[in-house]
Amino acid sequence: MSEEIRTSIHGQWSSRMTFILAATGSAVGLGNIWKFPYITGENGGGAFVIVYLLCIAAIGIPIMMAEVMLGRRGRQSPINTMAALAAEEGRPAAWSLLGWLGVVAGFLILSYYSVIAGWALSYVFRAASGMFEGATADGVNSIFSEFISSPESMLAWHTIFMVGTMIVVARGVKNGLERAVVYLMPSLFILLIVLVFYAMSTGYFLEGLRFLFYTDFSKLTPHSVLIAMGHAFFTLSLGMGAIMVYGSYLPKDTSIAKASIMIAVADTLVALLAGMVIFPIVFANNLEPAAGPGLIFQTLPIAFGQMEAGVLIGTLFFVLLVFAAWSSSISLIEPAVAWLVENHGLSRVSASVILGALTWFMGIGSMLSFNIWSDKTLFGMNFFNFLDFLTANIMLPLGGLFIAIFAGWMMKTDSSRKELNTHKKGYNFWLMLVRIVAPVAVMVVFLNVTGVINLD
Ligand code: PHE
Repeated sequence: MSEEIRTSIHGQWSSRMTFILAATGSAVGLGNIWKFPYITGENGGGAFVIVYLLCIAAIGIPIMMAEVMLGRRGRQSPINTMAALAAEEGRPAAWSLLGWLGVVAGFLILSYYSVIAGWALSYVFRAASGMFEGATADGVNSIFSEFISSPESMLAWHTIFMVGTMIVVARGVKNGLERAVVYLMPSLFILLIVLVFYAMSTGYFLEGLRFLFYTDFSKLTPHSVLIAMGHAFFTLSLGMGAIMVYGSYLPKDTSIAKASIMIAVADTLVALLAGMVIFPIVFANNLEPAAGPGLIFQTLPIAFGQMEAGVLIGTLFFVLLVFAAWSSSISLIEPAVAWLVENHGLSRVSASVILGALTWFMGIGSMLSFNIWSDKTLFGMNFFNFLDFLTANIMLPLGGLFIAIFAGWMMKTDSSRKELNTHKKGYNFWLMLVRIVAPVAVMVVFLNVTGVINLD
């Protein structure tokens, strides 16, 4: 393949900035605002957060660079990119399975992601109706439990969210999303800062900070290390081809290293801010940090109910959360859409409709696991927890491991150096991270959990 024909048939970002915004849009989502606080709560706070931050720095950023690099070099859906690059580097064609692993992971994640995004969507209307004004923690809690015990209303919101996602995907990344993220991501950030000020006014801000940052490693189990690592992949959208496919629309002259660092920093800041908002509210109201997936829906409305202009701020907050989820969900399904268009000659519209319908159907399983199927378990977890565990903690790190191995060991250093185009020191540091640090870290965490080796 010559350099000239290497532009993606799906189009290209109009600039480096739009790539950064789109990739940040993919990274910043429910993972930061909904998931990070609740898994931090479930895993005891500080020590968990430190492991998560280490994973972002030592595993996440180098693998993000690798993914963007592979995508930009291959210029196709992850499945075809991996096949093309494997051929180019004289490696087995089976490397395209890495693309498949990602497509399946993206599909499974989106199926439950859309259910939770549907919660956020329904909370836009609850907040706007003034339902939370002056509500107590108990009141807010019962609104939430009533909501999730009703499959019908959850189904409606899940359906609306899924349709919204597929409309943007069908229009193409450039015409669909590029425009929206430019305004939405900065607004979300500003609103989070406003909420941090509210959290400061609760009188429990320091307690919240202590929970987030006070490090007591005795609380850390191999299982929570796995979850912290899995979350680093999840929150940066790594290991399943989302960032790879976005990289395939990236113009040639962009610095991959700088872009990756900016994306990771923005993503991490949003998560930490969300934690600084949630935990003071949790402690001020005597709530349980380990409340699970309902945490933000049980805490934030209390704040909105108490503060000046809470109806407005609450509504805006959930609107922005829905947008953050939206810009992530698009990237979850883009690898599959791109592949269907490339290999089966489908239009983007048909590909989106087919995949959207399948994902929607799969989502029903997660939806029901909050109510009528709550006692049905797989490996001791309900369906939603099982899918979340399988994807975030197994499939994404596994995908990331193989991405690191491919970029570090399978590709000629000539190819990767040329593609990354950074100074020598930076390149060597990256190479050491993807060759050794990231793969070893992922394997140690995996093996430690399965009990093959034991570091305790
Ligand atoms: N990063 C997104 C979030 O934090 C979720 C996601 C995972 C998106 C994997 C794309 C790929 O919400």
